[in-house]
Amino acid sequence: MSEEEKDIVAITSGMSDEELAEIHSELNKDKHPPTLGFLKAPLVFVFLFGSLIFACAIQLAHTTNEFRVHPPKPAVNLTPEQVEEERMKRKLASGLKVYEAKCIACHQSTGLGQEGQYPPLKNSKWVLGDAGIISKIVLKGLKGEIQVLGKTYGTAIPMPPPPDLNDRAIADVVTYVRQAWENNASEVTEEQVAVFREEVSGRTDLWSGPELMELYPDSFSEN
Ligand code: HEC
Repeated sequence: MSEEEKDIVAITSGMSDEELAEIHSELNKDKHPPTLGFLKAPLVFVFLFGSLIFACAIQLAHTTNEFRVHPPKPAVNLTPEQVEEERMKRKLASGLKVYEAKCIACHQSTGLGQEGQYPPLKNSKWVLGDAGIISKIVLKGLKGEIQVLGKTYGTAIPMPPPPDLNDRAIADVVTYVRQAWENNASEVTEEQVAVFREEVSGRTDLWSGPELMELYPDSFSEN
């Protein structure tokens, strides 16, 4: 035992357990002097990891489109021409559907119809002339003899008006017919068809060819 130890024993020998515990806890309160440079290391790490997390968060935000699970579709800025092109494409696609349901059985997918029975729609003046002609044929039907591209039709069976077609469907199908198979007549709008429908609302009979030729003489002038 060293002298120092002997001193400690001398001091503490008369103490109770409580007093000893009290002294120890007092001694424990004395802080260890800070080790040189000890605090700097964790600070550097805190800064490093902080910067790393920050950089990663920015990167994540960029690559995940601001953390959205379902990022909105990028807004496409269509030019007015593209919007118009898109609208026309849809109209023609819808017109084709109506054609397939209501016209194709007689006039065929080629628009050439059938010799002696069903007149062709390709290149026909009845189709390419005033929009009122084809629209009114679809609205009210057509009977009796007509000439289409120098050939006679309508002697065998008439064309009944296809049922259940609203203004929009008629506008779509006649526009389709006027622009299919190299036909290049103007678009027919729903509003135009509404006017045509109004014009013929009192009519119960099918049209005859001569009646329509009289209504739209300009369309048949160079016959
Ligand atoms: C049941 C058969 C049949 C169906 C279906 C039919 N047509 Fe016709 N279509 C005819 C016949 C037959 C004629 C000639 C009628 C006549 O002159 O008496 C005709 C004539 C026409 C004409 C005038 C002549 C020409 O060839 O240019 C047009 C335009 C026309 N149809 C368009 C249509 C359109 C559009 C549809 C569908 C919405 C349609 N047709 C559905 C039988 C049909």
